[in-house]
Amino acid sequence: MIKVMTVFGTRPDAIKMAPVARALQGDPRFELIVTVTGQHREMLDQVLRVFQIKPDFDLQIMSHGQTLSEITTRALSGLDKVLAQNRVDVVLAQGDTTTTFVAALTAFYHKIPFGHVEAGLRTYDLYNPFPEEMNRRLCAPLAEYHFAPTEQAHQNLISERIPAERIWVTGNTGIDAVLWVAEQPLDLSPELQSLLNREGRMILLTCHRRENLGEPMTHIAQAARALLERFPDTYLILPMHKNPLVREILTRYLDNHPRAFLIEPLDYAPFAHTMKRAHLILTDSGGVQEEAPSLGKPVLVMRETTERPEGVHAGTSKLVGTEMSLIVEEAAALLEDEALYHRMAQAVNPYGDGHAAERIIQILSENRP
Ligand code: UD1
Ligand code: UDP
Repeated sequence: MIKVMTVFGTRPDAIKMAPVARALQGDPRFELIVTVTGQHREMLDQVLRVFQIKPDFDLQIMSHGQTLSEITTRALSGLDKVLAQNRVDVVLAQGDTTTTFVAALTAFYHKIPFGHVEAGLRTYDLYNPFPEEMNRRLCAPLAEYHFAPTEQAHQNLISERIPAERIWVTGNTGIDAVLWVAEQPLDLSPELQSLLNREGRMILLTCHRRENLGEPMTHIAQAARALLERFPDTYLILPMHKNPLVREILTRYLDNHPRAFLIEPLDYAPFAHTMKRAHLILTDSGGVQEEAPSLGKPVLVMRETTERPEGVHAGTSKLVGTEMSLIVEEAAALLEDEALYHRMAQAVNPYGDGHAAERIIQILSENRP
């Protein structure tokens, strides 16, 4: 048996690692140990509940207002102890969070092969997204298995001289997750149900990125307000990230608008359902950018750069930056021009076909650590 430790700690790496953990759990070729850093608390626990994953180790590192150095040092010393006492054949982590980078580094210190799920995404802009671009890049030389979600990600790794025989194009496990959750029984709270049943076109907004804190996020909130004013048949659903700095800005500009509904982070199934019901999605999230095209929803990406160009090339997402006037202009065009809207609202799956986790574990079994 191959002994695998999966490490995750925030909402997105938990969602995208869950299909891999579940596939490993049901496979007699593998023994699975799940370690969570607890970089997020409530938002991680939501995901663990949905996918019915019980961690073997929980490092419980989250503190309010945690700095990047605090996350790194706490996760590093916690994981160091776990790996010292639990010898595994391979460590797997996903994406670009600080938890992921720490998992790669700690595995390296223990001379345990590291497998990077969702390898090779790049903007080649050091501070965008921050610190994720660097987290990803730092994972690359530390990893022995590079599971690239797309051909573009594969090419990025090749251009960084990662050996071609250590890179596999698997699709993104996030698509496995969103397809899986779509089939689960849906238990919507009466509050959400009544929001979804409202008359009018729903704009779904999520934002949380560190590089958008401050002025860019203020512009995002002001743009959302301006859209509500300009289009009286629209309403806004905004599941707010738990970061108090994010919540402060969003509530300051949007809380008292009668058609703005600022709610707690949704569980994954209700969130996926809300995406399906949305008319238009505005986001700075990585995962939402990948999920929305598979649901046929136009997405405006409120960031200066994206490491996920595939949706833009497929025509379902558009990078609009964080200037208020640009966000309003692009969203207004979609709300006013039906032909433009329908061109963007095509269902495409540039990020995966829902079988990425199966491929990853098959690759591990054929290329034993
Ligand atoms: C983290 C990741 C980012 C990812 C995002 C997804 C890093 C450096 N950042 O950013 O890549 O896109 O998660 O959401 O790895 N908080 C809670 N409860 C929670 C979660 C967060 O209270 O369940 C609050 C805490 O006060 C915490 C703050 O949010 O200090 C920020 O959390 P943190 O993980 O540091 O950064 P994120 O912006 O969430
Ligand atoms: N998501 C969720 N509930 C919410 C908002 C988002 O379950 O209220 C899911 C979303 O479907 C996606 C993931 O969380 O799978 C994205 O997480 P986030 O935006 O926090 O991080 P990022 O993807 O930007 O790293």
